[in-house]
Amino acid sequence: MSYDKNQTLCFCFDITYGDLEKKIKDEKLKSFDDVLEKTKIGLACGACKDDIQIVIDNMTNTL
Ligand code: FES
Repeated sequence: MSYDKNQTLCFCFDITYGDLEKKIKDEKLKSFDDVLEKTKIGLACGACKDDIQIVIDNMTNTL
């Protein structure tokens, strides 16, 4: 699934899809739990959790 990297993914922490991709790459995050634990994104309201998974799937598919 594709997405616009400039679009906001997490409104609670003001993170775009591109921001999350960069964090996953820079911090070498491998799983959904890794992302939540290390970045805290998704741990406020939780509404963006499905979108976090989409970014992870998208990145692991293109590696
Ligand atoms: S939108 Fe990401 S935790 Fe609320």
